[in-house]
Amino acid sequence: MSQARLVVDPAFVVGETDPRLYGSFVEHLGRCVHTGIHEPGHPTADEHGFRGDVTELVTELGVPILRYPGGNFVSGYRWEDGVGPREHRPTRLDLAWKSVESNAVGTDEFCAWARRAGAEPMLAVNLGTRGVAAAANLVEYCNHPGGTYWSDLRRSHGVAEPHAVKVWCLGNEMDGPWQLGHKTAEEYARLAARAAQAMRLVDPGIELVACGSSGAGMPTFPEWDATVLEHCYEQVDYLSLHSYSQERDGDRASFLACATGMDAYLDTAIATADYVRAKGRHKKRLGFAFDEWNVWHSPDPAGERAVFERAPRLLEERYTVVDAVVVGSMLISLLRHADRVRIACLAQLVNAIGAIRTEPAGPAWRQTIFHPFALTSRYGRGEVLRPAITAPSYETAEFGEVPLLDAVAVRDDEGVVVFAVNRDQHAALPLTIELRAFPHLTRATHTYLGGGDPLAANTEEEPHRVVPRTAESRPLDGGEPAITLPPLSWNLIRVT
Ligand code: AHR
Repeated sequence: MSQARLVVDPAFVVGETDPRLYGSFVEHLGRCVHTGIHEPGHPTADEHGFRGDVTELVTELGVPILRYPGGNFVSGYRWEDGVGPREHRPTRLDLAWKSVESNAVGTDEFCAWARRAGAEPMLAVNLGTRGVAAAANLVEYCNHPGGTYWSDLRRSHGVAEPHAVKVWCLGNEMDGPWQLGHKTAEEYARLAARAAQAMRLVDPGIELVACGSSGAGMPTFPEWDATVLEHCYEQVDYLSLHSYSQERDGDRASFLACATGMDAYLDTAIATADYVRAKGRHKKRLGFAFDEWNVWHSPDPAGERAVFERAPRLLEERYTVVDAVVVGSMLISLLRHADRVRIACLAQLVNAIGAIRTEPAGPAWRQTIFHPFALTSRYGRGEVLRPAITAPSYETAEFGEVPLLDAVAVRDDEGVVVFAVNRDQHAALPLTIELRAFPHLTRATHTYLGGGDPLAANTEEEPHRVVPRTAESRPLDGGEPAITLPPLSWNLIRVT
C-alpha cells in the first residue's frame, strides 16, 4: 500500500488568513434570492420575508462576507429599481438569465439580511450597461450618513444608519462576450478607473475590486488582467478571479486534480499583477478577490429558454461526494495563496450552484459541498503553513502527473489543523504527519468526508446522507499522528 508523509514546520509560513476568504455569493439568478433566501409566507419566514431555516444554515456555513447582486445579473441592473416602497418597484426583464425580476428584494433588504446572518455585504456596481454616476450614487445611497439627495432617499426608506459597505466590485466578468455591455480591456479599464475615482470621492474608506479575467481558460488571460491593471493599479485594491470546475467526459482523475489548475491560474495572475507593479514602479502589492468559485456541471440554460420566467429552477446542482472533495481541494488551493487572496466567494449560496438547497414552502438542506466549506471556514483561520509533502503520484489527462495527496496546514491558538485530500479513487492512503516543532501537541482528531459511494448526495428525502464523520480523538504519546485517509476523501486533522 502506498504511503504519504507531511512535514509541518512553523518556519514555512504562507501568511495569515483573512476571514473573508470564506465568503459566498447571492445573485438574482434562478431561485437563489426568490424562494432561496427570501420567501414571504414560508413557515420559517421572519418579519422581512427571509427564510429563517436558510438564515440559520448560512450562519452555520460561516460566511463573513456576501457578494451581491451579481454576477451577470448586475450588468443589466438598475439598483434604484430595488429600493423604496415595494408597490412602486418595477418588474423588469433580466436579460442575463432570461428571467422576470420583481425587485422585491434590493440593496436595503439584502444588506440588512446579510448583517443578520453574520456577514458583511460586498456590492457590485453595473459597469456593463451603466456607468460612473450610477455607481457613485449607489455608494452615496449606501454609505453617506445623510443630508444629501441619495443618503436622504435611503433614510426616507426607513434606513437611518448607513449600510457601511466596504468592498465594491467594479462590474462583473467584463471580458466575457456573454456579459451585457461587454468591453475590451482598454474600454473597461478606463471606465473602471473613473468609476473607482468617483466612488472613492464619495467614500474614501471603501475597497475596490477590478474585474480580472473571468477564467483561466479565457483566450485573453492574462493579457486582459495586465491591461486593466496598467490603467487602474493605484485605484483598486483587488483583482477578481473566477473558476468553476467540472468533470469532463467522465475524466474523474483530472476533476479531482483541478486544484492544480487553480494553483496555476493564481500563480499566473499573481505574476501578472507583480509585473504591472514593477513596470509602473508601484509600491503596494495587489490583493486578489477570488469572488466566484465552485463546482458547476449543468449547462448554462439562459440562451436556450424560450420564455422569461419568475424565479426559474436554474443550475440546481445535486452535489455529490466527489464534488465535495473537489470543493475541499479548491479551498486548499485558496489557503495556499492566503498571502495574496484576501477575499473569496463560494458561488453560490442557495439553489443556483448553491451550497444550500430549498424547496418553496418546504425544507432547506445542506448539499455535500456545504460540509468541507463550513469546516474549513471554522478551523482554517490563523497562520497558513506550507507542508512538505511526500506522496505517490498519478497521471491525469489534464494536468499531467499529480500527487495523490493534496494538503495544507493552518496554525491557530489551539494547535495545527491539516486539510488533506486523498485523490486515489480506490485505495486508502496512510498518512504520517511530522510535527517535530510542536512537541506540546498531544492529541489528533480526524474528521473526513468520503470513502463510500462517490456519487452519494443529499436530497430533500435524504438530507443527511452525506455528512462528515469524526474518528475518535487519539493521544499521540510522543509520536506522530498516523492517519488513514479513506479513498476519494476530504479530511480535516486537528492536532491540539
Ligand atoms: O455564478 C454564476 C455566473 O457565473 C455569474 O453570474 C457569472 O459572473 C459567472 O459567469
